[in-house]
Amino acid sequence: MNLEAAKKRWKRLTAEIRGHDELYYQLAEPAISDEAYDALLRELTDLEEVHPTLRRPDSPSQTVRESRDDNFPPYEHPSPMLSLSNTYSFDELDAFFDRVARGLEDDTPQAWSVEPKVDGVALALHYREGRLHVAVTRGDGKIGDDVSANVHRFINLPAELHEPLSFEVRGEAYMDRSRFTALNAARERSGEEPFANPRNLTTGTLKLLDGRESARRGLSFVAHSVVEHDLGESHHHELERLDALGLPGLPLRKVCMGRDEVVEWIRHLDASRAELPFEIDGAVIKLDKLALRRKLGATSKSPRWGIAFKYAAEKAETTILRIALQVGRTGAVTPIAELEPVQLSGTTVSRATLHNREEIARKDIRQGDRVLVQKAGEIIPQVLEVLKDRRDGSQKPFAFPKKCPACNEPLLHLEDEAAIRCVNPACPAQLYRRLVHFASRGALDIEGLGGKWVSILLEENLIQSLSDLYRLNLESLLKLERMGEKSAANLLAALQVSLKRPWRRKIFALGIRHVGEETARTLARNFPDLNALRTATLEDLMEVSDVGDIVAQAVLDYFQSEALASEISELENLGFFEESEETVERLLQDFKGMTVVITGSLEHFGRNELKDLLSARGAKVTSSVSKKTSLLIAGEAAGSKLSKAAEMGIEIWDEARLLSELNDE
Ligand code: IVH
Repeated sequence: MNLEAAKKRWKRLTAEIRGHDELYYQLAEPAISDEAYDALLRELTDLEEVHPTLRRPDSPSQTVRESRDDNFPPYEHPSPMLSLSNTYSFDELDAFFDRVARGLEDDTPQAWSVEPKVDGVALALHYREGRLHVAVTRGDGKIGDDVSANVHRFINLPAELHEPLSFEVRGEAYMDRSRFTALNAARERSGEEPFANPRNLTTGTLKLLDGRESARRGLSFVAHSVVEHDLGESHHHELERLDALGLPGLPLRKVCMGRDEVVEWIRHLDASRAELPFEIDGAVIKLDKLALRRKLGATSKSPRWGIAFKYAAEKAETTILRIALQVGRTGAVTPIAELEPVQLSGTTVSRATLHNREEIARKDIRQGDRVLVQKAGEIIPQVLEVLKDRRDGSQKPFAFPKKCPACNEPLLHLEDEAAIRCVNPACPAQLYRRLVHFASRGALDIEGLGGKWVSILLEENLIQSLSDLYRLNLESLLKLERMGEKSAANLLAALQVSLKRPWRRKIFALGIRHVGEETARTLARNFPDLNALRTATLEDLMEVSDVGDIVAQAVLDYFQSEALASEISELENLGFFEESEETVERLLQDFKGMTVVITGSLEHFGRNELKDLLSARGAKVTSSVSKKTSLLIAGEAAGSKLSKAAEMGIEIWDEARLLSELNDE
């Protein structure tokens, strides 16, 4: 491939990878399996290998991408939280052993720690004199979210370590299988959308603002690394020290000598998955001797002394009872196989996605077929293979309907995409999904308005559009059978609150194709109000970094669609877009280029509010004072950051100064 072609491919790949990152980390709705994701990343790395000029510091091959959450204070990791490189085959594992032997200039068998790869959420716990001081998520690897309040409520962390030590331990937060099953069952009973898997539930629980709810759900921690190497000379000593200190350690870990023992234990772990209280997606293989690790070091993304061996997804056999169609928020029609319920990776599976018409044709999937299903990356399972020799003639091929099952309008097969679409924006199925999305957590977060109530409101004809939500009143709500006076009043109050949500969340709530939370934030920064966004041209949109042609076109299409545009004007007439005006992120760039640290407690601003405000004005807000800091904003009772900044001669404002500077505009 020549450089030009490579560049093009690189651009597509990075855009695709970033899209999947967003789906995975922000929306907790992965669209592809880990394996497929790793294949994309691998292609990117290979491409950069051949054309090193493409390898820039912000390439997905060089960065650990995970989102941060504005509701939690940022916390800078003293040393970056890296991840491990992955492999799926023993050949690649051998190549890893060879690399290590070359790096160490020693090809005698080494001691390796082989451990379960916990499919949880990475956490760093900082202990001070035996007590948990701060707990931080990975974030982007450099700065994470301080989620201490929730971690203090973990069910298996001791109140105090057996010795008053200060150090950082890393590991995974997880929800144990039995709790996961019980919680999901309760959710389904109350008509709420169940969590897709324990990992998503863990992410959701860690980010809860209501500590009591988080405690009620009950998360656990398992330790797998010590950051400051003063607990022993090898990894397994460190882990033993952690056990002795009372921290929950990894079960089924073993020190193996040389390649063959490693492979044997990897297989053993795979076979023993069911014994573990958490889900695992592989084994981690790490050099045991810390001195050898130091010799090998790390790349910007992962250490050279360890690797993750990922297991192929679990499979199960079942029958397709029926093929149904599901219409998504943007009209994409996805065929779904309704299955005879079967146990798979610890959860009961009764539906599998069939992706699109081609997939059904290619695999010749019929209703009534015996099939192998697989959970790839813990998303909705997929049909891996049809067991054709089990057919008895009763299986029926599926004729893809020409009309939308929900609105009966003709379905379109657009040339440039695999999906078949219902392009009728008035389609009730799309409307339902749009409403659910509109009210969902990252969007307007309208409490009490989940899928169950959206369908009731639609069925009872109380709403026919997004704007109708704001026309609901007590009288009409009380006519509904299961709606009491209190819930009705709460719902109306929640709707009022939702009007005040920031502009970026409103953009996200509109449900523009390909516009996730991160993209909505970028759009909000660059197009400060509805009119700016609605009148933006393709060029305007593409000028914004992080907005590519796909997103830009989707924004244009959205506002060009007549039905959606009328939905928008209805909302506009209700004042929906004005209410959030005070939080509109204006294009004031008066803090541009400044690196600001906020410390102490402020009277007039919430920490995150101020952070948003400053970021919107071009500042970079960081958590610790360094050479790069240009301004420290110090509230009441500021401590070490204030003295450090003063020592370094950094400009310092108190809250009064901040207020006057902000008011000057
Ligand atoms: S050691 C440099 N050990 O998997 C990272 N990680 O992609 C060293 N994980 O970031 C991590 N189980 O969040 C390690 N037994 C284990 C693990 C484990 C799960 C996670 C961890 C890490 C990621 C690797």
